[in-house]
Amino acid sequence: MTQYDTLRPVQWKDGQLRLLDQRRLPGAEQWLMIDAVDAVRDAIFTMVVRGAPAIGCTAAYGMAIATRKAPDDPTLFAEKIAADAQTLKDARPTAVNLAWAVDRVAGVIRARLGDGVDSAREAALAEAHAITEEDVQFCKDMGAHSLPFIPDGARLLTHCNAGALATGGYGTALGVARAAAEAGKLKMVYADETRPRQQGARLTAWELHHDGIPVTLISDTVAGSLMVRGEIDLVVVGSDRIAANGDVANKIGTYQVAILAAYHEIPFYVAAPLSTVDFETPTGDGIPIEERDGDEVAIIDGTRIVPEGVPCRNPAFDVTPHTLVKAIFTDKGVALAPFVESLAKLRDL
Ligand code: MRU
Repeated sequence: MTQYDTLRPVQWKDGQLRLLDQRRLPGAEQWLMIDAVDAVRDAIFTMVVRGAPAIGCTAAYGMAIATRKAPDDPTLFAEKIAADAQTLKDARPTAVNLAWAVDRVAGVIRARLGDGVDSAREAALAEAHAITEEDVQFCKDMGAHSLPFIPDGARLLTHCNAGALATGGYGTALGVARAAAEAGKLKMVYADETRPRQQGARLTAWELHHDGIPVTLISDTVAGSLMVRGEIDLVVVGSDRIAANGDVANKIGTYQVAILAAYHEIPFYVAAPLSTVDFETPTGDGIPIEERDGDEVAIIDGTRIVPEGVPCRNPAFDVTPHTLVKAIFTDKGVALAPFVESLAKLRDL
């Protein structure tokens, strides 16, 4: 482990799921111990844990917990697992890694059920561990694949938190930043604060600072002014779901950053594992966009900043069309346009 690789937000400890409560950062480093499927679902929905790959790892452990709580009778066991799988999948709709991880563990459970429920239980936990460990390695692989695209002295802008906190560890977009830092190529990460939940201010700034990587926070309104002054060399973001044609769903506000980057001729890159690519969804129009409570916009630290009675829209994600994306860094290599072909080729490697 390097000095740039110290955080693991989703852990299994003493027979329970251990999650870093990201709602409390940066003020407190509090870990929650979880031992029930409904509590896993709530942790995902309330964003104790967030970020597409981290949600996937968490849901995988949720399935392992489901097997431990399900009855010993194989038929009742299978029925309970199917119901719990749906509960976990319904926690948040946009990140496809969630359903992907649940289905992957469910497949292993089905395959091992013939050997008995205890065998299925063992296999589910082993698969959750594998998904989490693989995710860290995939992030490192993405970082390595991105290096030829990173200029020396890079000043990298990112949006939201696509870091160790959003993955098994190391990060997707921030994995690119970590790899660049390890290679001596990184000058600065500019982190958008990312309204309304401020993942950039609270989480990206925290984890990069924690690992000694240079980071400067900007409010969401600043990106264009830095670009026009020539202070940003590249943009790298993560993704919650990439359609087969390369359209990219990511945290709300990503789309406007991509437009700004295109206008200023700054490359806009996406870093995501292939588990984030939804080959069943041809274009971004088919990606479900989570709408969250308007109070997340209206209330900051317990204080209402909007007059009572004024409605607030709070879509949590937007879709950046593939035409604005210069390249997608995946665990298996780099996809370039036309993405419909390059992504499918990487999947089939
Ligand atoms: O609502 P969040 O905080 O779960 O949104 C997270 C993002 O949008 C991330 O950029 C995305 O999940 C990629 S994480 C590696």
